[in-house]
Amino acid sequence: MSLLYADKTILLGVCGSVAAYRACDLASQLAQRGATVLTALTKSARQFILPASFEAVTGQPAITEMFSPLPAPGVEHIAVAQRADLFLIAPATANILAKAAHGIADDWLSTTLLATRAPVLFGPAMNTAMYEHPATQANMALLKERGALFVGPASGNLACGSDGVGRLADRDDILDAVAVALHKDKDFAGRRVLITSGPNHEPIDPVRFIGNRSSGKMGRALALEALRRCAQVCVVSGPVEVKPPAAAEIVPAATAAQMREAVMARLDQCDVVIAAAAVADFRAEQVSERKIKRDGNKRTLTLAPNPDIVAEAAARKRPGCKVVGFAAESHDIASNAAGKLKEKGLDMIVANTVGGDANAIGADTSAAWMLMPGKEPTSLGCIDKTSLAKRIFDCIRELP
Ligand code: CTP
Repeated sequence: MSLLYADKTILLGVCGSVAAYRACDLASQLAQRGATVLTALTKSARQFILPASFEAVTGQPAITEMFSPLPAPGVEHIAVAQRADLFLIAPATANILAKAAHGIADDWLSTTLLATRAPVLFGPAMNTAMYEHPATQANMALLKERGALFVGPASGNLACGSDGVGRLADRDDILDAVAVALHKDKDFAGRRVLITSGPNHEPIDPVRFIGNRSSGKMGRALALEALRRCAQVCVVSGPVEVKPPAAAEIVPAATAAQMREAVMARLDQCDVVIAAAAVADFRAEQVSERKIKRDGNKRTLTLAPNPDIVAEAAARKRPGCKVVGFAAESHDIASNAAGKLKEKGLDMIVANTVGGDANAIGADTSAAWMLMPGKEPTSLGCIDKTSLAKRIFDCIRELP
């Protein structure tokens, strides 16, 4: 795992919830990414999990008491408040949200929260009724208004035996939110970015489909980058292997026709459209309602062409909207991509190599080129998809 957060200090506040044990895995993941993770457990959290668990996975002292025993050097509350790059409170109970909203400082965590100027990210976890209570909702609204960030809660089975909203968000969704919070830029604030992502599944019969090897990794990296830059993000997503970040609006679209419909319905509200999906170029002309039986005979499947979504988006976009496409090419990469840039009427195209040793489909890296009308193609060499997403947004920002 890359030491992405080697220069970061994260204060992980753990409150009294059954989900407290999940914070330990979170602490471990953050430490593995190189962060200095200081954990503070409230008195109620210590009913659920021991400080020693956090100390073992982070290699740092866990903070439990305000005054006694004497805090270890560097973990006194004002020192931590000033030193932390991020306060992550997960699980965050209704109680800590209420205290944070009203400036109550009656233990180490709430006092330090009041003293910090670092970004604060809450991962709420509580019973549905407590979460939906007007007091909790009002406290969250107040905190959001002041700039606090939230991830989750998710829906599902709750400790109280009921099923509903209130579960601590999934670990990976919290890690995404941390990545966004730690490196926030505001250059796309207020801009609405729509990203198509992943493959399509074009049905043949109730059990079979035509698909491709796209994983959704590029779409996910683009969505995270857009969120990091404070854009409002919508991902129109095919059936992907890696799901888009939870902070984006996610619109599932299995077939090219569904993807087209979802894009066109939102096009008027978009400032940027990025077509990262590996759209199925063809669909079965006839979809059998019954399972096609294996009878030993040869079968012929007639394929009908699908609409070109990105070309239509470029033709129908509102003035000022930027439309960016990808080109998956196995040969003559730059010249084929230049052709697509022109034919589809795009503002920019990113060419990826597919097939061979540098196959971008399903991989974490891509041998990429960037092309804009009237400019020479730029080779980016072999680049990881996170860095590629960053380069793409840097370029979109500069588009005329
Ligand atoms: N695209 C699209 N709708 C399609 C096909 C492609 O919106 N029916 C978009 C892709 O999301 C990508 C760009 O067009 O942004 C280029 O896709 P690519 O697969 O490289 O090219 P195609 O246009 O499908 O042409 P070919 O398969 O012949 O290379």
